[in-house]
Amino acid sequence: MSVWAVVAAAGRGERLEADQPKAFAQLGGRPLLAESLERLEASAWIDSIVVVAPPGWEEPVILLAEELGCGKVVASVGGGGSRAASVRIGVTEVAEDAAVILVHDAARPLVSDLVVERLIAALNEGWDGAVPGLAPSDTVKRVRADAVVETLPRDELRAVQTPQAFVAAIFRDAVAGGREATDCSALVEAQGGRVTVVEGDPRLLKVTTADDLALVESWLGGSEPL
Ligand code: C5P
Repeated sequence: MSVWAVVAAAGRGERLEADQPKAFAQLGGRPLLAESLERLEASAWIDSIVVVAPPGWEEPVILLAEELGCGKVVASVGGGGSRAASVRIGVTEVAEDAAVILVHDAARPLVSDLVVERLIAALNEGWDGAVPGLAPSDTVKRVRADAVVETLPRDELRAVQTPQAFVAAIFRDAVAGGREATDCSALVEAQGGRVTVVEGDPRLLKVTTADDLALVESWLGGSEPL
């Protein structure tokens, strides 16, 4: 079974207020993207990696992969105007015979093999897709124009992360529709796909601000190896 990872790294990361795109913001003295690439490269579950680079940064991504010895990186393509558009572009680089497509945000550097294993196990059980999720500790309310409209039942809620894994044929159909969504699972759900939630990891925090970057950096030393 061949598993292809598509790493979405084309975001501008405006809230980091850095000169370079978020994937090249410094984390522990090297580009943020390096952390995900190295971890996916080391994963026995992953066969090949496609990176969706910030437009104009395709070549630096290849150079970074070479520098890290990430031989699984087979393509670096420029991204689109939204995450969904970037993922769609990345999927065109995935080999026809891929069985599973796993999509990961470069903005979540601390991807763990344990989470990847849980996702693949769920697909082996027959799910169309699997996503890591965490139960919120806060009560979550639906709000419109500052007014609370609804208090949601907390036991039914999950904050969903990446990587997200899908049966390749189902995922190709889902992205072909050209829909917009904030995660890949929503595209598969919209096509009637059956997606399960596996246990996520608090360290899969998405880096948005400089504070997030500092927090992830503080975890780096203590993060368990793959
Ligand atoms: O913008 P946001 O933080 O939700 O982005 C999540 C992930 O999607 C990031 O890793 C980012 O690089 C990627 N992305 C992308 N193409 C875009 C926008 C975001 O690959 N146009």
